[in-house]
Amino acid sequence: MTDRDKTLTDGRKSASAQEILRREGRPVPPAFEMESRRFLGDADIDFDRYTDQAFFDREMDLMWTRTWQWACREDHIPKVGDYYVYDIGHHSVIVLRDKDMSVKAYVNSCLHRGTKFRPGDSLGSMEEIRCPFHGWTWDLSGELKRIPYDWDVPHVKGRDFSLPKVQVGLWGGFVFINMDDDAMPLAEYLAPIPEHLENFDLSNRFIEVHIEKELSCNWKAAREAFVENYHTQETHPQLLLGSDDEGSQYDVFNDHICRMFVLFGVPSPLIDPRPSEQELVDQALTGNRSLMGDDVIVGEGESARVVMARILRKQLGDAYDTDLSRFTDTEMIDVSQYGIFPNAILFPQLSLPMIYRFRPIGNDPHRTLFELLIMRPNPDPHDGGGDAPPPAVPQRLKEEDSFTTIKGFDPILGHVYDQDTGNLRAQQQGIRAARKKGATLLNYQEVRVRLLHQTLDKYLAEG
Ligand code: FES
Ligand SMILES: [Fe+2]
Repeated sequence: MTDRDKTLTDGRKSASAQEILRREGRPVPPAFEMESRRFLGDADIDFDRYTDQAFFDREMDLMWTRTWQWACREDHIPKVGDYYVYDIGHHSVIVLRDKDMSVKAYVNSCLHRGTKFRPGDSLGSMEEIRCPFHGWTWDLSGELKRIPYDWDVPHVKGRDFSLPKVQVGLWGGFVFINMDDDAMPLAEYLAPIPEHLENFDLSNRFIEVHIEKELSCNWKAAREAFVENYHTQETHPQLLLGSDDEGSQYDVFNDHICRMFVLFGVPSPLIDPRPSEQELVDQALTGNRSLMGDDVIVGEGESARVVMARILRKQLGDAYDTDLSRFTDTEMIDVSQYGIFPNAILFPQLSLPMIYRFRPIGNDPHRTLFELLIMRPNPDPHDGGGDAPPPAVPQRLKEEDSFTTIKGFDPILGHVYDQDTGNLRAQQQGIRAARKKGATLLNYQEVRVRLLHQTLDKYLAEG
């Protein structure tokens, strides 16, 4: 850590997450007992990066084709022949379960006249990969099986007509793809996430809710709206009572992985006077408020955080038929979100166990698909039970539709997401209207915004 890294938060009023955890003296796993703050510079970020089609096209050619992106969960393709199509811009990859149960991925384009085998973001099951145009057919391992009237294509004989493969990596129940044959291994790309999140056992979760929301902004602006807690004081003032915006921790681990760590049950310094511990519990936002119950009483000498963790461990454990006793308080109630460059953000903690994904819609620098998934613990195996529910079917929202209409999603939280996405059209329009050339960022609280651009630049420069 340089001197500049160390002094990044000088002048801050709030106690840091680490100071509060140390003061509490409760058990904290090593991953949450550390921080990795970095000063990455303070130059403005050019607005052209959000609007320029040529810049977007370079991202599509040089970055999206060379990075690990999570395409689906293994639960989307549990049986031989199950497939899931992941589209990014004009690129399309078909992920499927081969006969030996391994996961394969191919370029989703027929070697005859190019037709897509299956449409983008579709899923289903197939015995063989058969093109819907003229019926050229491959087996699940990508080997050419059949060409109708093959007497007419003698020039195919002796040539390699197996489907071009795309790299696949598995971790935590997620299927990642990478179109670059020379990419670094997934485990190296994701470090330190597999080590940090081992106790959460993410492969043992199911997708309870899957939301797709269309946004009128660049994909980077959409992602950036969710990687800092700085906007909370203006955009979500109702959340300040329950979490300390200014005290949030921002970690940069490497080019691809960063983290925000926010303690819950600790008020913002903007709330004056400080609320009682009972008031903190009463307004707790836990992702599903009904699970907290309405009449939780904080005992003499107890803190809101300890009470919230205890109640949530019991209520969530009962609701999802699983034992959560191995989780510390911070693993239950706090929120850490790990950013995986370029398209994913992962929330492992039990109170708000979510995944985000951000992708451009088609090849449009002004449109984004934002996906939000909730992943709950699978029920523990036991007599007569324990089967993981299948992943939820996506519910799609147009830009003007509200998150509060989503079935199975807490409307209080839905309102928060409406507040978030409500800003984004205005930001994209303002960027285009600007006379100033770029965005001026906060050094500490917006470091993850800067990191995204710096990593992107490394991919563009190598092209
Ligand atoms: S384009 Fe696929 S079989 Fe003709
Ligand atoms: Fe927000």
